[in-house]
Amino acid sequence: MCGIVGILGQEPVAMRLVEALRRLEYRGYDSAGIAVLEDGRLERVRAPGKLNNLVERLLASPLAATCGIGHTRWATHGAPNETNAHPHFAGPVAIVHNGIIENFKSLREGLLKDGVKTATDTDTEVVAHLIAQRLKAGDAPRQAVQNTLDKLEGAFAFVILFEGEEDLLIGARRGSPLAVGHGDGEMFLGSDAIALAPFTNRVTYLEDGDMAVLTRSSLELYDSQGRHTLRPLQFTQASALLVDKGGHRHFMAKEIAEQPDVVGHTMAEYLDFNAGRVRLPDMPVDLAGLSRINITACGTAYYAGLAAKYWIEQIARLPVEVDVASEFRYREAPLEEGGLSLVISQSGETADTLAALRYCKARGQKVAAVVNVPESTIARESDVVLRTFAGPEIGVASTKAYTCQLTVLAAFSIALARARGKLDDEGEARLVTAMNGLPRNLVRALREDGHIEEVAQKIAHSRDILYLGRGINYPTALEGALKLKEISYIHAEGYAAGELKHGPIALIDEDVPVVVIAPSDTLFDKTVSNMEEVAARGARIVLITDEEGAAHHGRNAFETISVPLADPFLAPILFAIPVQLLAYHAAVFLGTDVDQPRNLAKSVTVE
Ligand code: G6P
Repeated sequence: MCGIVGILGQEPVAMRLVEALRRLEYRGYDSAGIAVLEDGRLERVRAPGKLNNLVERLLASPLAATCGIGHTRWATHGAPNETNAHPHFAGPVAIVHNGIIENFKSLREGLLKDGVKTATDTDTEVVAHLIAQRLKAGDAPRQAVQNTLDKLEGAFAFVILFEGEEDLLIGARRGSPLAVGHGDGEMFLGSDAIALAPFTNRVTYLEDGDMAVLTRSSLELYDSQGRHTLRPLQFTQASALLVDKGGHRHFMAKEIAEQPDVVGHTMAEYLDFNAGRVRLPDMPVDLAGLSRINITACGTAYYAGLAAKYWIEQIARLPVEVDVASEFRYREAPLEEGGLSLVISQSGETADTLAALRYCKARGQKVAAVVNVPESTIARESDVVLRTFAGPEIGVASTKAYTCQLTVLAAFSIALARARGKLDDEGEARLVTAMNGLPRNLVRALREDGHIEEVAQKIAHSRDILYLGRGINYPTALEGALKLKEISYIHAEGYAAGELKHGPIALIDEDVPVVVIAPSDTLFDKTVSNMEEVAARGARIVLITDEEGAAHHGRNAFETISVPLADPFLAPILFAIPVQLLAYHAAVFLGTDVDQPRNLAKSVTVE
């Protein structure tokens, strides 16, 4: 994941930028760079590989500048080399960027038509050129940035430095995180408070859509509508801890909010947006020759596996078996030698999942692991690691790790479908393009937060809550119910909507809310019929659907929560947001220990 920093200081800034970047190393990176204003002129130093390579170059030709920006890059558009490393320049503009600009291709075409020459393959350089164009047209820096932001689609954060402006930094965020640090006669910007901890513990977290204009003695903030706004100054503990809550009340809230960013980074590892292709690491088996796949995992990771079964069977036409890892060994599953097993685990240390992995290996299977912690035992013992880039997940209830697991599994399903000849170039490009829009759609889904809080408060005193979903949304119903019960202690069950009549309908009365997860896909009408069956028995329905579903059937529900209309393929990822927020707000309302619910552990290392 890219890390970004900016400093308007009183002393030489180059090594301070590096110091901040070091604290962002945990996000992962493949190159690094800084840009400063040296005697009023933009200078930059960049290096592929580790930060020490950058330090060597800085030591060889020291810089005296007191303002600058810095970046650790996790390649998304373009190879991880020095040319593509940030900061990027265009005329008087230097920029560092975290995130993805979805519409950069059309923006670049526009620039090329205007005769602009680009030096790199990156989406970031396009932004620098757009700002430079506005400056040339006579805009002041803030206006130039605002005009440019209005043209961008995607999820991102920027810090921008301007030649000739020794006392100015502009930062902006949409989806990706950004914080302002307040010093004494100095100001800072960084991806998180951890990066700023060596300089200050006084931090202002930007809200989504905000733009920050910094001088050494002032901070002006503008909201997504360009209106002047204020955000609270907070004192962080980031210097003591390596992770902090980023201005949120709980780690879980922070981790839910981080999803556009971390899903974007995970996608960037597996998808080539330019070519419209999926790229996997070398697999230990020939994907085209498989006759089936088995998947094992525990808890939330198991539900990610269940969603993958739908994806793989639907688009790659390959049979999939999914087991909870704690049961898998006991059914003594016969496994084909040379076949492929997938294990999914955030921590990479879950004892049952590890035992399942060893069971598979002992029977001659190759194992691919979807894990978040690359040094974990499961990662080390697998034949190939399909890493998620969720960053450290502290809340016991898994949120961002889940959507990152789903992101990897969606990419894996597409690659499998290609390898098996079940998807052509066009089909692959269509799905990759749909995934490219995910961070933006996740940002929009998160904007329902206030409304979901109200809904959560209305249902939080229920003793039982049912979650219904059909097809690929059935795993989301299971995950929604798990999230709710683990943090709010309300009894909740997820059911396949069609199973309702085979038992759970007996529970329905006006005291049992029913959460129905139903995007407007081909199964929508069937699920709505199930919804009406329970409504007829007095149940209060919370319909979670998309904009189209809400327009048609929202009136039948007691409450309707909607997410942006998107390709149904993405539903498991997008619909995870409302079910997470519903559980989170119910738990906060009831006053439970959201981040460390009773009896639960983040990593279960005993069987
Ligand atoms: C515990 C956690 C869950 C998690 C499960 C599997 O139960 O509380 O949030 O989904 O373990 O953990 P893993 O690290 O293997 O994904």
